[in-house]
Amino acid sequence: MENFITIHVTDLEGTEHSIQAPTDMSFNVMEAIRANELPIKATCGGMAMCATCNCIVQSDHDLPEMSDDEEAMLDEAFVLDIEGSRLMCQIPVTSSIDGLQIQMGELTGE
Ligand code: FES
Repeated sequence: MENFITIHVTDLEGTEHSIQAPTDMSFNVMEAIRANELPIKATCGGMAMCATCNCIVQSDHDLPEMSDDEEAMLDEAFVLDIEGSRLMCQIPVTSSIDGLQIQMGELTGE
């Protein structure tokens, strides 16, 4: 599909989902996951203020550098030291992340 990429998401139960995300709607990965109706808290709605959209990036994609806010939030949530730890709401959906593989972080669930 044109203007869509695939993101592979492993949920907290270990089930893998391959979701399609549009690259032309200014979505971030958290919003793409929400739009596909996978359960994710994402309490702050994408402001890098809650860490309940945390994930572990397992593929080797070139992602945007972490902002200070993202780093501080991951640190506060005690997940910064986990390799590949990111906030999904801080990763824009663009063609450069096609095929991204992520594991939903523990904070995303109840
Ligand atoms: S949704 Fe709150 S930090 Fe991403």
